[in-house]
Order: sequence, then C-alpha cells, then structure tokens
Amino acid sequence: MRRKLVVGNWKMNGNLAQNKTLLDTLVRDLRGIDHADFAVCVPYPYLFQAQAILSGTNIAWGAQNIAKHGAGAYTGEVSAAMLKEFDSSYVIIGHSERSNAYCESDANIASKFAVAKGFGITPIFCVGETLQERESGVMEYAIANQLDFVLSVSGGALLDNAVVAYEPVWAIGTNKTATPEQAQAAHSFIRERISALHPGAAESVRIIYGGSVNPINAAQLLSMPDIDGGLIGRCSLDAADFERICRAACQF
Ligand code: 13P
Repeated sequence: MRRKLVVGNWKMNGNLAQNKTLLDTLVRDLRGIDHADFAVCVPYPYLFQAQAILSGTNIAWGAQNIAKHGAGAYTGEVSAAMLKEFDSSYVIIGHSERSNAYCESDANIASKFAVAKGFGITPIFCVGETLQERESGVMEYAIANQLDFVLSVSGGALLDNAVVAYEPVWAIGTNKTATPEQAQAAHSFIRERISALHPGAAESVRIIYGGSVNPINAAQLLSMPDIDGGLIGRCSLDAADFERICRAACQF
C-alpha cells in the first residue's frame, strides 16, 4: 500500500511575512494527521525559514530545482549539497515551467535526478503532455520519451523512494483539471512503463498528480488507484485550501 503524498509547489511566490503565516497555520492545522505525507517546495531564499518553522513537524520541505553540477563556476545555480544543508527532503525536477522557459533537456533532467538521489534528496520528477500532444494522439509517446530517458540513465535502483509527478501541461494553472479517469489512465500508463523497464520499482514508486488540483476535485482524483498524491500549485498558497487537500489524501 503506497502512502499518499501531498506537495505544495509555491513556484515564485511568497515573502517572509506571508510564508510565516502560511507555514504556522499549516503546522497548527495538520498537527497529528499522520495518514499521509506532506511537504512544501519553496523558493531557495526561503529554505532557511521553512527549515526553522517546519523542523520537528509532520511537514517536510524542499526546493523547486537543483544544479546538476557539484560546485564551481555556475552562476545562479544551487547545488544538492546546499539543499542538504537546509535538510531539504524533496526537489522538483523537470517541471514544464522550467523545461519550456529554460530549454531544459532530458539529459539535464536525468543528471539532476541522479544528483538529488546521490544526496538523499527525493526527486519529484515531472512528466506530462502538451494539449497538442494529447489532441494529436501522441500523449503516451511523449510521456514515455520523458520517462525512458531518465529511467535508462538512472537505473531501477534509483527509483526507490523517488516520486514521479504526472503534470499535463494543459492543466497547469489553467483551472482545467484532468478528469479522474484521464489522470488514472496516464498514471497507470506511467506505472506500466516503469514496470517494463524496472519491474521491481513499479509497485512502490509514488506517482502524484499535478494540474489545477483544488479542495473540490482533490478527493475524486486521490481516490484513483494509481494516483498516490498531488503536486499543488496555486492552492498550496492558501493554508485552508492546502489543508483540505491534505485531509482529502488521508481518506484513502
Ligand atoms: P496549479 O495547481 O496552479 O495548476 O499548478 C500545478 C503545478 O504546476 C504544480 O507543480
């Protein structure tokens, strides 16, 4: 039985005062709820604040990107060792907002995945199709390509304790959510694909859904057998919404 995981992706939002209110509220309202795992992935400058407020609670924290290099002359990059200094448990890798805007290649994403794992940080590896890919019938091909590259570079053992996020690009920030059936079909396809390459990893790897999850649609999505949690954008910035999604995850 896979435990559900709900992760907030704050993206480029927040400030010290708002973060404090949001995190203090989540700590108070999620205290003692232990049927699922919870985390927030915050902008780099707020890792220290997240660590200070969330240490010793049932909410983990992490970042939204990681450098593929260890250290050196890479202006603007942040290394795995730096994330580890702030006890980051998770890092989002390959989010479409990054891969599109910064032309992140599959090879880069695969390197970042391996680097995170090497430092004991759980990668949340995002895959998903564009609307054009879905409408032209190549959705599975597109997702398989993204998965295969990382899986073939990383090997099955690296999937232990890793997370895959299915994020259909057309559902991110659009208020268009995949129906539970559409999301389940994609998650089941991802699990089968992992199984074909690394049979041992497929049953345990958590595949979470991201794309306009909100307190209204969360329970239906999270009730599906291959949806092991959510990666939440906008609704992770509102303590009450995020709490309701976390509580929905605990029902299953
Ligand atoms: P929204 O929940 O705002 O659609 O964002 C989803 C997302 O990109 C999570 O990584």
